[in-house]
Amino acid sequence: MAASLQINCKPASTAFRVNPASKCSRRLFSVSCAAANAPQKRYSITLLPGDGIGPEVISVAKDVLKLTGSLEGIEFNFQEMPMGGSALDLVGVPLPDETLAAAKHSDAVLLGAIGGYKWDNNAKHLKPETGLLQIREGLKVFANLRPATVLPQLVEASTLKREVAEGVDVMVVRELTGGIYFGQPRGFRIDENGDEVGYNTEVYAAYEIDRIARVAFETARKRQGRLCSVDKANVLEASMLWRRRVTAIAEEYPDVELSHMYVDNAAMQLVRNPKQFDTIVTNNIFGDILSDEASMITGSIGMLPSASLGSSGPGLFEPIHGSAPDIAGQDKANPLATILSAAMLLKYGLEEEDAARWIENAVLDTLNKGFRTGDIYSTGTKLVGCKEMGEAVLRSVESQVHTTV
Ligand code: IPM
Ligand code: MG
Repeated sequence: MAASLQINCKPASTAFRVNPASKCSRRLFSVSCAAANAPQKRYSITLLPGDGIGPEVISVAKDVLKLTGSLEGIEFNFQEMPMGGSALDLVGVPLPDETLAAAKHSDAVLLGAIGGYKWDNNAKHLKPETGLLQIREGLKVFANLRPATVLPQLVEASTLKREVAEGVDVMVVRELTGGIYFGQPRGFRIDENGDEVGYNTEVYAAYEIDRIARVAFETARKRQGRLCSVDKANVLEASMLWRRRVTAIAEEYPDVELSHMYVDNAAMQLVRNPKQFDTIVTNNIFGDILSDEASMITGSIGMLPSASLGSSGPGLFEPIHGSAPDIAGQDKANPLATILSAAMLLKYGLEEEDAARWIENAVLDTLNKGFRTGDIYSTGTKLVGCKEMGEAVLRSVESQVHTTV
């Protein structure tokens, strides 16, 4: 049963719990207060801390979710489950059945990070990364939203010139459960010359392209209304179909301006003039590569969240960064990407936009106050660790409550 694998069940810290009674005298909070006294909404969240810095950043994000939820009359029921290398060590597989079952039965899933040197040489089915692909497939989360926004506070962190990086705000919509990552046939074989061959299949069915295209058009519509579809339609059949289907779906969205770009050109344009992009939609493997490239424009991969959504069922929310085993357990990790993933969880997973805004504002406020983890540190700012950054965000959430009223 799910419960038998549950990990780290200790109660969350109460250090920053808001006293709901103290808010009730404040007029703007009458609704929230009534709710906070007797939570009106309950959500179950599966937490997958994973490996490396994963547990540290998840613990901070959990406290932020709890506090923000209490302001909006939301009570979370958290369940921590093993995944990735930690699951391999515990039960010998990267995604235990119990973990997938718990994730499927929850309202949303928040993942830290997976992987580490220890499991790098494992057979493919015993790699932490395989667990990640299995949970994406198991939850059928085909649409991966990866925003890359250059915050004014961190523009110096970009390796691009200020005038190129400043104001960049790109959303990469990556297809996540199809293409070459999952296509059959795949494998190794010996060819007719006795040579060993490794092969994979890039394959897309029209329905897979149509549904990701619709998510991308909807996303672009809520942004600046410009969608660039990236493919390799000059060479690959799967891309030719991709371009044809995206063009057909565009008829449903006359208000969105659609353009097409070959992936090699897109990779170049992203560093040449990233501001030309608003929303990008692309397949699984191009999205993997371009979203890393886009994230580097911001200079701080430790800042970027992501959301993976299906047509129904819980979404999967995770920071873009990896497990950073070199700094794991040292309280050096930047928890902001996971905190912002929690905000995406609220916004896209639970449609709790107000709660999401508390978190987004708190992160900006914390940066404005000069708090920086090592990865985004610059002279004149205040270097803090993972926990202290989390505490600063919690204080910012609280101070918004005080200044709004
Ligand atoms: C990502 C990662 C994964 C991917 C790996 C870890 C399987 O690079 O989420 O971008 O390739 O999708
Ligand atoms: Mg990647």
